[in-house]
Amino acid sequence: MSEQREPIGVIGAGWVGLVTAACFAELGHPVIARDIVAEKVEALSRGEVAIHEPGLEDLLRRNAERLTFTTEMGELLDGARLLFVCVDTPPTYSGDADLSRVRAVVQELPEDGEHVLIMKSTVPAGTGESIRRDMPGLSYVSCPEFLKEGTAVADFMDPDRVVIGADAGDDDAADAVAALYRPLGGEILRTDVASAEMIKLASNAFLATKISFINEIANVCEEVGADVGQVAKGMGLDERIGSSFLRAGIGYGGSCFPKDVSALKMLAGNTGYHFQLLTAVIEVNELQKRRVVGKLEKHLGSLIGKRVALLGLAFKPDTDDMREASSLVLAARLQGEGAEVVAYDPVASERAAELLGSVEMATSAMEALEGADAAVLVTEWGEFAELDWAAAAERMTRPLLVDGRNYLDPKALADAGFEYEGIGQTVSAPRPATAT
Ligand code: UGA
Repeated sequence: MSEQREPIGVIGAGWVGLVTAACFAELGHPVIARDIVAEKVEALSRGEVAIHEPGLEDLLRRNAERLTFTTEMGELLDGARLLFVCVDTPPTYSGDADLSRVRAVVQELPEDGEHVLIMKSTVPAGTGESIRRDMPGLSYVSCPEFLKEGTAVADFMDPDRVVIGADAGDDDAADAVAALYRPLGGEILRTDVASAEMIKLASNAFLATKISFINEIANVCEEVGADVGQVAKGMGLDERIGSSFLRAGIGYGGSCFPKDVSALKMLAGNTGYHFQLLTAVIEVNELQKRRVVGKLEKHLGSLIGKRVALLGLAFKPDTDDMREASSLVLAARLQGEGAEVVAYDPVASERAAELLGSVEMATSAMEALEGADAAVLVTEWGEFAELDWAAAAERMTRPLLVDGRNYLDPKALADAGFEYEGIGQTVSAPRPATAT
């Protein structure tokens, strides 16, 4: 019926690889995805997806006939010329990115002048150059991903920009990659490999800097009686500043910002350059996760024996990803202060339970709030906006809520009988009429 599209190979069927595979299949390409974990490949072949990413499972199911999952590199190399490398590059103890998985993959690729390695994994600037030095016969294109967890499918299909980095000799390979993305309509920026690698790291580091900046502004707002929501709104109206990523809260988390900020700082450090600004961004973020403890103590005094309910555990809503989630640090700090911690997350509870062994897991927000001396909203899941907060106030020993994401309406919460405290705003007292 339709013409055969260029087959795509995807190496690493994790979050980035699966979204890439599913979206290229949706665009009509036959896709072969290879992962070294046999159980994962078997599950994916049966249509089972272990990660929570809205729309992904549907997309995989809808395009099942165009998708093949395998453990065999040979099958991938036979079936596709364009190979997207999507393996993870977690942080090492030193803060540098761990490139061992990338290196293992590269060693399996042939220098045949036909296959093209397209690097999606986030790697330090200079990685492409060193791979090309080791394997001069391999075509290399850098094509960093800018997907956000929770909206990754939509981000892929409607990109702000697609960055394609290639060095001398790889123009044809870069053209082939550009052709894959052209139907999506985003601006395609062609550049060299090192610049493409830096664009990815600098983008994440800049967004993280914006968050740490607004969090510090929030902390000053608390001292001077200003409202950070209003301040961010006023700042964001200036086109040069922009309104996004100015939501104050209890710090950024996830698999990307903490890792990439640290990797960029280390990358600079390894060249002898001290990236002072990023050092502060990281420190501000660490301290921000702990500020809630002080807020609770202000209201409750000592936290010894106090029951604190954490609402939301994932690093952000619409994902079950717990990597570098602020909840992990907060739960540990609260327990360190002697509090009894109970928690609920709509989708991340199972993953969280593995990491937070001594935290009691509730099966609903209401159950978590039952008998609690205070609640902390950690992740802004939509269902928390729908909760019957007046009923929750009645079930709590003390209706005190620290809103770590400034997500709920302070007035509505005060009307429901809560003492409400957000980040960078004034504290709302409960309406006296609610006392029974
Ligand atoms: C981030 C980038 O936004 C993507 O562009 C990039 O592709 C991705 O990293 C990556 O490198 O793979 P992601 O980690 O999914 O995406 O999440 P974000 O939506 O960017 O949020 C990161 C953290 O910042 C979350 O913990 C969130 O709660 C926090 N945040 C975000 C704030 O505290 N305030 C804000 O205003 C925005």
